[in-house]
Amino acid sequence: MSRLVSAKDMLNKARDGKYAVAQININNLEWTKAVLQTVQELKAPVILGVSEGAGKYMCGFKTVSAMVSAMMDSLDITVPVALHLDHGSFEGAKACINAGFSSIMFDGSHYPIAENIAKTTALVNTCDVLGLSLEAEVGSIGGEEDGVVGMGECADPDECKAVADLGVTMLAAGIGNIHGKYPENWPGLRFDVLEAIKAKTGDMPLVLHGGTGIPDEMIQKAISLGVAKINVNTECQLVFQEATRKYIEEGKDLQGKGFDPRKLLNPGFEAIKAKVTEKITTFGSVGKA
Ligand code: 13P
Repeated sequence: MSRLVSAKDMLNKARDGKYAVAQININNLEWTKAVLQTVQELKAPVILGVSEGAGKYMCGFKTVSAMVSAMMDSLDITVPVALHLDHGSFEGAKACINAGFSSIMFDGSHYPIAENIAKTTALVNTCDVLGLSLEAEVGSIGGEEDGVVGMGECADPDECKAVADLGVTMLAAGIGNIHGKYPENWPGLRFDVLEAIKAKTGDMPLVLHGGTGIPDEMIQKAISLGVAKINVNTECQLVFQEATRKYIEEGKDLQGKGFDPRKLLNPGFEAIKAKVTEKITTFGSVGKA
């Protein structure tokens, strides 16, 4: 019986081994199957990210949790898989804990730091008792995700230390990263800020959000400075869209049984598999399961 695991061990190993575990966000059954099959083939650990919006779209966190667990069983997945709430509210965190998620992100970055600390502390205790991993965030990530728009501020290293000291498993800190596509004039990641955060937070595995479109050299440098988890969402959506568009533009949906969703969605499915392979290879986690 395949079981979901906390992200704690995989992240500590990644930090020590100087690679990063991918968090790939899932949006439906095809997405989930594509990611699970790929990580099993590559023998890589993975974190399946579910935003509150994606959870709602997939008929609620309980549906997602049941689907992922059953799929792991049916596909005989043996690599470590964590099912993780992405950018959760306090209420969303509680709902995912009840639904059987193995990892939670509480994003209190938009609260004043004292309130972020108070709410994160409450969840540290609950997650500890249940053996779940917990991600906290300091300094909002730029761009737009599920209607939440952040300006991409850089985190304050002292605030990062205060939150890391609460006993969270991993810490997301803004270092100029943005969700979605990066604009042409994006100045790049703030490695000076990342270094200052690392100096204050010590062994805490750091999380880089907005993995879409960050050049490989910046990814490598971020990993060398303590990043142990990198989140990717938009890039899979873009390749899925591109492959599906091509299938329809080539008129393949009009040929034979090309209208069958199992055929229509297959190019997008294969495109996600290729993208996840590329990302996990860049992050260095192939064979680390
Ligand atoms: P992208 O959509 O930019 O890849 O970011 C994903 C993310 O950070 C999820 O939390």
